[in-house]
Amino acid sequence: SAAEKGGYDYFMLKEIAEQPKAVADTLLGRIDAGGSLTLDEVRISASELRELDKVVIVACGTAFHAGLIAKYAIEHWTRIPCEVELASEFRYRDPILDAQSLVIAISQSGETMDTLMALRHAREQGSKVLAICNTNGSTIPRESDAVLYTHAGPEVAVASTKAFLTQLVACYLVALYLGQVRGTKWGDEIGAVIRDLSRISGAVEQVLETMEPVRALARSLADKKTVLFLGRHVGYPVALEGALKLKELAYMHAEGFAAGELKHGPIALIEEDLPVVVVVPSPRGRSILHDKIVSNIQEIRARGARTIVIAEEGDEAVAPYADHLIRIPATPTLLQPLVATVPLQVFACELATARGNEVDQPRNLAKSVTVE
Ligand code: AGP
Repeated sequence: SAAEKGGYDYFMLKEIAEQPKAVADTLLGRIDAGGSLTLDEVRISASELRELDKVVIVACGTAFHAGLIAKYAIEHWTRIPCEVELASEFRYRDPILDAQSLVIAISQSGETMDTLMALRHAREQGSKVLAICNTNGSTIPRESDAVLYTHAGPEVAVASTKAFLTQLVACYLVALYLGQVRGTKWGDEIGAVIRDLSRISGAVEQVLETMEPVRALARSLADKKTVLFLGRHVGYPVALEGALKLKELAYMHAEGFAAGELKHGPIALIEEDLPVVVVVPSPRGRSILHDKIVSNIQEIRARGARTIVIAEEGDEAVAPYADHLIRIPATPTLLQPLVATVPLQVFACELATARGNEVDQPRNLAKSVTVE
């Protein structure tokens, strides 16, 4: 009903709008006044966490994209090797697992069969499993050793939005917690990240307030056949997520690429007026990465692409090469997906609407996939 949708036309729009609160709720009570993490719900002892020699993340779809981003954070902040694998591939290749492996299963519904089978396999090998889940008491957390709940509230639209942002928050919390417990790199940088994380919901709010041009752009592209998405570093999984959203909602051909891979093949796809969305990392800090993506944008534009550039406020270097410039607030590099994903959700939702598609219930899809 209209009341359930809180005045929005679709649950998806309501859920996009709820993201600042979902992010804040997922952080609530997990950072103490001194800036340390209190994740008592992670019932895996500190000594077990100290003995880990690897982290393996398993998930499907959008939750898998959250896992890809988590890998950057976990390895950078804890120096523990981290693998990310599609849950549907995991147990069939005889993965190397033992009691020193922590397996993290990410799932909004907690009922995804592929993810459940992957975690069962991991537990059979003696690994500890930590679930990151949005649904209280669902099967995946019940079968795991520990659970960190995301507090997105019920997500009704098939296309995941607020659950994804809260999965990212939960992954950052786990990564920072591992760093805290193991004492690795626990210095100024981590303290600053925790402070930035506790303020991030305001940045998500800020993005939501500036989405009208993104909607207008989406409407203008309604008759296109293909949209490409490029990113580097954590912007690469964001590009994959942008492409997935467009496939499931707009039924358009969409692909995400690591921008550095362009020259190894995908650049052959670029033709006159092809829309290409580029997620640009912050020019601060890792500026080499930024320089490289600026030249990627130049390369595709020289070949006729219509460039849609998502870049931090104040990043002027990209402006000359952007046919459309979407601004996002400055954040630390690893946290950027929390703000960079939002315009891509809005973009896909508006394109679906313009094409007359059913936004909350895309064809052929189910909210939770309980078969393998
Ligand atoms: C997201 O928009 C999709 N509908 C889908 O990829 C989803 O993320 C995937 O099926 C995993 O679901 P889960 O988080 O409930 O396990």
